[in-house]
Amino acid sequence: MADREDELLNHDYDGIQEYDNQLPKWWVYLFLCTIVFAVVYVGYYQFGPGLSQTEVLALEMAEMQKLAAVQAPAADSITEEMLLARASEPARLAAGQGIYAGKCLACHGPQGQGLVGPNLTDDHWIHGPLLTDMRRTVVEGVPAKGMLSWKALLSEEEIQNVVFYIHSLHGTNPPNPKQPEGTLAPAAS
Ligand code: HEC
Repeated sequence: MADREDELLNHDYDGIQEYDNQLPKWWVYLFLCTIVFAVVYVGYYQFGPGLSQTEVLALEMAEMQKLAAVQAPAADSITEEMLLARASEPARLAAGQGIYAGKCLACHGPQGQGLVGPNLTDDHWIHGPLLTDMRRTVVEGVPAKGMLSWKALLSEEEIQNVVFYIHSLHGTNPPNPKQPEGTLAPAAS
């Protein structure tokens, strides 16, 4: 370093020569730190309690699934009777109407008479006339036909409320109905 004369090494590569300088202390310490870090890191993650990214992902997915199960009861635990019991509560119908106006009207028409999507007021159903059928269609959607899956966009509560609202439109015979689609099925009563 400063107390020592730069020493020119006695080799020569195409006219390029080099000094035998000592590495700066900060550089050496930094280098040693990286070695210590690597040993600790490998020890912790490879042999110790550290979790791999795959394990962290699996844990987070399990956590999410637990949450989802709490928020949305398993579909087969929702029965037609359960839905029917709530289907005519005015507060739910009002909430459902708001959701319908914001999210469904564009395709199913202002009165549910059908536009791009089928008429929701008649006795014909492509995916079944029951409240559980409608709920399933709204939750899962029919992506190939242009009906979205709403499960990521609406809560279970909101989905049920909008289904109740559609149910309340049944038999209202709005003007300019879309031609019946699907099979004639007795409406949910
Ligand atoms: C982008 C257009 C679009 C929007 C928005 C839309 N739908 Fe649909 N919907 C459709 C189409 C198209 C179908 C018919 C699917 C098929 O042919 O299988 C459908 C089918 C349905 C059915 C089944 C009808 C039957 O005959 O079985 C229900 C119930 C339904 N939609 C409810 C809703 C609700 C509730 C909303 C709002 C949250 C909504 N839809 C928003 C296009 C839409």
